[in-house]
Amino acid sequence: MSITNDSVVYMDNNATTMVAPEVVEAMMPFLSNFYGNPSSMHTFGGQVEEAVSGARKQIAYLLGASPEEITFTSCGTESDSTAILSALRTSPEKRHIITTRVEHPAVKSLCENLETLTGHKYRVTRLKVDAEGMLNLAEYEAALTEDTAIVSIMWANNETGVIYPVEKMAEMAKQKGVLFHTDAVQAVGKIPINLEKLDIDFLSLSGHKLHAPKGVGILYIKRGTHFVPFMTGGHQEHGRRGGTENVSSIVGLGKACELAGDNMDQENTRVKQLRDKLEAGLLAAIPKSMVNGHITSRLPNTSNISFEYVEGEAILLHMDRYNICASSGSACTSGSLEPSHVLRAMGVPFTAAHGSIRFSLSVYNTEEEIDFVIEKMPDIIESLREMSPFWEGN
Ligand SMILES: Cc1ncc(COP(=O)(O)O)c(C=O)c1O
Repeated sequence: MSITNDSVVYMDNNATTMVAPEVVEAMMPFLSNFYGNPSSMHTFGGQVEEAVSGARKQIAYLLGASPEEITFTSCGTESDSTAILSALRTSPEKRHIITTRVEHPAVKSLCENLETLTGHKYRVTRLKVDAEGMLNLAEYEAALTEDTAIVSIMWANNETGVIYPVEKMAEMAKQKGVLFHTDAVQAVGKIPINLEKLDIDFLSLSGHKLHAPKGVGILYIKRGTHFVPFMTGGHQEHGRRGGTENVSSIVGLGKACELAGDNMDQENTRVKQLRDKLEAGLLAAIPKSMVNGHITSRLPNTSNISFEYVEGEAILLHMDRYNICASSGSACTSGSLEPSHVLRAMGVPFTAAHGSIRFSLSVYNTEEEIDFVIEKMPDIIESLREMSPFWEGN
């Protein structure tokens, strides 16, 4: 292991984030002295339970929710599955799911499996997106039927950062008596969220996207929403999720949510300015480059840029020589040479979709890092284009 934080220019925060030092500090006692089981009757365990409920309050506060609406899970993927499967179990007579063509594999694969592994017992409508990655609300309204068990639409897209009108879409679902789930894994901590007055029944959050550790998440379940657990076992989480709590990570997630609330203004001003500077600098210096996704309805930290006629993987390898970390497509789908399903759904031409790079910033990025990337990228792209059979200086 030779690459350290200090030498890395980390612009891959939609893949995962650094655990904040304050979060590590909050967690440490629960990895050492405070090892009691929060379910135990004794005071030693009881004080751990107090820390878990303190974290629940911190998370609820960030979301504008009540603590009893928060259920701890192991990750965003578990939260997504739990919400969708619960809806199918509480309304067994309903066989229809509405989602989008641009969901993360956590929802996308589950929906595919629900169709194929059940012999097409379930029907899935995948809403289209336009060239900017936006949904059409008329198509959505027409898709909502009495047979629809649940709608699952991400709050913000992990690859492009495009933000979806989930408040409005949840209201429309409610009017038709349909449950609404949002995968807010990329949105929480980056844009303000207040669930109190919204018709959202379920919301998924993942710790490692907002400076908490990997392996912890939550599912928000609106008070009054019928729920059937995914993981059964002990009576933890009021019977909503069996399994002894991942106490240190839960405490870390609570602290991370508190920090996210404190940093929200900075995320939407300084981080956004850095992102905009990076984007403007790269577009000005590199011909045939373009931003993918709606320019304004977008997370403040994300920029997905296509450099035509080059391979994203090759760009990443060259960036890696300078310890610049970013992604091509989402981390979960890279490894295959297929262009991202998100960019394909947006109709981005193959020559551009293949050369797309996602830069995703955090409050820990600096202006010097932005300048460094703007300085290095033009040469990287130019040298790769010189080797490309498709590039003729056009
Ligand atoms: C939008 C979205 N949903 C779900 C997930 C999965 O979260 P986790 O890694 O915690 O399972 C991710 C992770 O990349 C994501 O970006």
